[in-house]
Amino acid sequence: MSEYMRKINESTEFIKSELNGFEPEIGMILGSGLGIMAGEVENPIYIEYSKIPNFLRSTVEGHKGRFVAGNLMGRKVIVMDGRFHYYEGYDIKDITLPVRVMKCLGVKNLLLTNAAGGVNTSFSPGNLMLITDHINMSANNPLIGKNYEEFGPRFADSTNIYDKDLNSEIIKISKENGIHLQKGVYMFNTGPSYETPAEIKMARVMGADAVGMSTVPEAIIASHSGIKVTGISCITNMAAGILNQKINHEEVIETANEVKSIFIKLVKLILPELK
Ligand code: HPA
Repeated sequence: MSEYMRKINESTEFIKSELNGFEPEIGMILGSGLGIMAGEVENPIYIEYSKIPNFLRSTVEGHKGRFVAGNLMGRKVIVMDGRFHYYEGYDIKDITLPVRVMKCLGVKNLLLTNAAGGVNTSFSPGNLMLITDHINMSANNPLIGKNYEEFGPRFADSTNIYDKDLNSEIIKISKENGIHLQKGVYMFNTGPSYETPAEIKMARVMGADAVGMSTVPEAIIASHSGIKVTGISCITNMAAGILNQKINHEEVIETANEVKSIFIKLVKLILPELK
């Protein structure tokens, strides 16, 4: 067995022992300022990343660093309250290892959330955006290197990472419930510096509606192993150069906090649809 598979198995076995027979079907990864969702989980089991063999530490403010497993809207969920980012200096394979662990735990759907900068000028800070597709601008890919056939094929199809049928359903239920939901393409830049105005112009020309520093590595790994992916961006600020103002992490966290009740409402509406 390869060192990488050994790591995955070891992490999985540890988590299974902590879960005590609880079998999650939906995974969720919470972005900057969106950790509030973890507090909604009923009968929670907490597993600190620091206790899990082979897990990284979440170093970013606004990210906790633990799994919360339990029930939400009648579904069995395992939530990552705090994620790992490429810009933290970690290997892209290590930051996506939790997604493969989720697969080994039996997770069928993954709901990814993030804070993002709005590139589409019809967006406003505080909008929620359903991710319809992504552009990977990191010049890296978590599938580079040995392929693990037990998860998926060498050349992974990426035409429908953010399941179109599921997205149509989400658009429908958000309309029915009066939730204003933007739709668009998420561009992954490595960060940690925010983009320049010129880079944002380029992003727009390339077809991006929002930019951020996460989500895409996890989406690629999940989709490769047959997990259905749904992504929600919280547009916390307009991207560089659109408004005549600077961008900072405090503002990102603040805006994410302001939309927490609508975000929680949307996620709760989405959960029953995930099949
Ligand atoms: N750019 C990149 N990542 C982000 C931004 C942004 O403007 N806002 C929140 N995350």
